[in-house]
Amino acid sequence: MEKRRKIILDCDPGHDDAIAILLAGQIRYFDLLAITTCAGNQTIDKTSRNAFNVARYLGFGCPIAKGATLPLVQELTTCPSVHGESGLDGFDFPNYKYDFSPLNGADLIIKTLLDNEDVTVVTTGPMTNLALALRLEPKIKEHIREVIFMGGTTDYGNVSPAAEFNILVDPEACYIVLHSGLKVKMVGLNVTRKALVNKEIIAKVRAIGNTASRMVGDLLDVFLENQIKTFGIKEAPLHDPVTIASMIDESCVTFKPYNVDVDISHGPSYGRTNVDMFDYLKQEKNCFVAIDIDSEKFWNVVLDGIKEFN
Ligand code: BDR
Ligand code: CA
Repeated sequence: MEKRRKIILDCDPGHDDAIAILLAGQIRYFDLLAITTCAGNQTIDKTSRNAFNVARYLGFGCPIAKGATLPLVQELTTCPSVHGESGLDGFDFPNYKYDFSPLNGADLIIKTLLDNEDVTVVTTGPMTNLALALRLEPKIKEHIREVIFMGGTTDYGNVSPAAEFNILVDPEACYIVLHSGLKVKMVGLNVTRKALVNKEIIAKVRAIGNTASRMVGDLLDVFLENQIKTFGIKEAPLHDPVTIASMIDESCVTFKPYNVDVDISHGPSYGRTNVDMFDYLKQEKNCFVAIDIDSEKFWNVVLDGIKEFN
């Protein structure tokens, strides 16, 4: 990977978001310009506190801004069954003074982009903030190298037969991003379902034996337990860090260009990402879609990332 890509991470921590933050703050690879938060896994106050706790615990000093309280059209749906009442159950952080950016998330995205060039925007929650930023100041497009979002799927959903959580929380925001003309990459459930946390992985995390591994180990214990209870599965997909891992090791995730649209019809497939894999529609290929992942490489990226801390 080339040296130090500039990134903004928009997230809704969330256990898997927390590990996306850990990878995004790796100074070997990235200049993490800002973290913005959205409501999703929990309410905006909770996801913002969680993002702040994780970033400061890991020693990341970038500005952190609270973003949108509600999706563009829908009422908010949260996900306590997986992430708990706090949105990040399982680890006790020190009591920090929450000095958030005075800007709203969308405004911090806009300011950061206008002050910089060639920035990658990664979203690991509903895309409300990015959609708002694009609507408020379309000039930001010139400063974005690409958008990489965790969301959607080429196959079946995890909150409805058709839809993935991040997209179903705010389908209209996803619509704005997919139709923005930006270079967009989608990292969906069809690959993240192969990035599985199990007890062996957690043991490898804990064996690292540093401050970061203690946090990640404790969080993954709860994440795994909650997913076993909620979905009746034995291993838990760690969705969000796949976005960042795809940048750190480009051979880890395979992307192919397709036409992708999101169903905003409010019917049974509301929030479904329709990926035209056989080019039936002969439409512009507006999205690079993750179609495969090398799970071993993915876990190497995560474990190497954790080893970077004291
Ligand atoms: C997505 O939903 C959230 O619960 C996770 O943090 C991830 O971003 C997976 O569908
Ligand atoms: Ca998330």
